[in-house]
Amino acid sequence: MIICSSLSDLEQAISSLSNDCKIGLVPTMGALHQGHISLVKTAFQYTDTVIVTIFVNPVQFNNPDDLKRYPRTVEADCKMLEEANATIAFIPSVEDIYPEPDTREFDLGGLDSVGEGPRRPGHFNGVAKIVTRLFDLTKPTYAFFGEKDFQQLAIIKYFTQKLGYPPEIVPCPIFREEDGLAMSSRNRLLNPEQRKAAPAIYKALSDAARLAGQRELTPVELIDITIKEINNTPQLNTEYVEIVNSLTLQPVTRWEEAVEVQMWVAVFAGEIRLIDNIKLK
Ligand code: PAF
Repeated sequence: MIICSSLSDLEQAISSLSNDCKIGLVPTMGALHQGHISLVKTAFQYTDTVIVTIFVNPVQFNNPDDLKRYPRTVEADCKMLEEANATIAFIPSVEDIYPEPDTREFDLGGLDSVGEGPRRPGHFNGVAKIVTRLFDLTKPTYAFFGEKDFQQLAIIKYFTQKLGYPPEIVPCPIFREEDGLAMSSRNRLLNPEQRKAAPAIYKALSDAARLAGQRELTPVELIDITIKEINNTPQLNTEYVEIVNSLTLQPVTRWEEAVEVQMWVAVFAGEIRLIDNIKLK
């Protein structure tokens, strides 16, 4: 694996690749776990040249404390990527990525008007800045993103197509711990009690998916039941539960309104904010 910690390293490494190779890009913010490694493995099903980027992107954090405490474990990350046979690990500095302030405002097609959008102002615009910058630098044929960030994935697909960027966006399934907790870099910030409580989030989502198929409940009633179930677990405090059309991301008030329906949640375990989602229909 070639480790590139500057733009010139990256240029050099890419120029050493064969001209006809197809690059698979796996963008990450580091603190890697098996969910990230599953993205790398999926990437190798598409191509034999995989670039993994590790960059804690400051412009997508709306909360300075969240940015400060975001876990940084570059040495362990490189070891995992080496074992996963990644071709290049690109670990740029903030100056490499943003030599000047990036003032671009992206058209996100209104997909940021729900879920994380209003709760994390500027977050998705910041994601669009880094993802397009990484597309420009690595020129991928494929780019791999996890479905845990369901809304992010939809938004990335939207602006990639809208702006005419070439890569195929490949969605990768949520990777879960044995007890159901969706893998996330933030999980390592949970204290033992919070970690023990956190699987209740997936349990509530799974219960909702069963109820959505079995009983005559409206989406609003199901949201209510899910919030109560999560909040019944000491340590957990629901910020929101929404049921949306999986394609337009607009809230669904009647099941017939959409062919595919997703439930997504944001939950606080103390200061740590966890998100997850499940397909209801
Ligand atoms: O999902 C993430 O880890 C980040 O939002 C991404 C896509 C790497 C951009 O910083």
